[in-house]
Amino acid sequence: MQKNTSWSKVSKWYNKTVGEKGSFFHQEVILPHTLRLLNMRPDDRILDLGCGQGVLARTIPPVREYLGIDLSIELIEEARKMDTNPSHKFAVADVSKTLPIRTGGFSKAAIILALQNIKNQFAVIKNVSTFLEKNGELIIVLNHPVFRIPKHADWGVDRVRRVQYRKVDSYMSPLEIGIDSSPFDHKNNQKTWSYHYPLSSYSEMLLDNGMVIKKIEEWISPKRSEGGLAEIEDKARREFPMFMAIVARKT
Ligand SMILES: C[S@@+](CC[C@H](N)C(=O)[O-])C[C@H]1O[C@@H](n2cnc3c(N)ncnc32)[C@H](O)[C@@H]1O
Repeated sequence: MQKNTSWSKVSKWYNKTVGEKGSFFHQEVILPHTLRLLNMRPDDRILDLGCGQGVLARTIPPVREYLGIDLSIELIEEARKMDTNPSHKFAVADVSKTLPIRTGGFSKAAIILALQNIKNQFAVIKNVSTFLEKNGELIIVLNHPVFRIPKHADWGVDRVRRVQYRKVDSYMSPLEIGIDSSPFDHKNNQKTWSYHYPLSSYSEMLLDNGMVIKKIEEWISPKRSEGGLAEIEDKARREFPMFMAIVARKT
């Protein structure tokens, strides 16, 4: 099995998790902030790479054109079922490969929680740069690449100092990490893949492809704990962002 097709195997689970309006984090954090940063206008042409089952498309205001691309046929079918807007189009393709779409045709692009699932991230950014018009903007939303490295970052609690801290055991080296969709259910368990790169790699990928970073935002979780450790857990949530957004402009 090609690692990139692993999302088709978990498509039912992912579609259920995201639903029509998005997961908790989509609704509370990712979509509101992404929409603010995209600052869409009616004549915008939007490219959404790794669009999944099309949650961004269902949230945006009316635009001239929206194209969502994803490798999973199943997720694209769900996207088409839920979105009948005639100016919204969906396609199945590997966004790290050559794409049959016109160059320079898009004013804005988004890659939401998808870049870290793709091995050749450099090729994805190269594609985006080709398809964006001059001064077009790209929003990348990542699981925070410093604090949320799957299997290499976790919470720790110092009960004496009453602090919850983040421990990170690997950062600079690129990592390929298998993630179980249902770790406690061996029969239905399927792996997806996460590819870690340090922050400097994102700056390099963008600069090498003619994009400059305009802004970086870090978004925290709005969840609240209950119980004896609630105070220190809530403080840690405010200190360690879950997500990072990079806004880059094509020069
Ligand atoms: C965590 S999901 C995010 C989907 C969507 N952006 C969202 O926020 O719900 C990651 C997505 O990346 C897609 N993906 C992984 N590798 C891909 C590739 N090489 N080309 C296109 N899509 C890919 C998966 O199929 C999956 O839909």
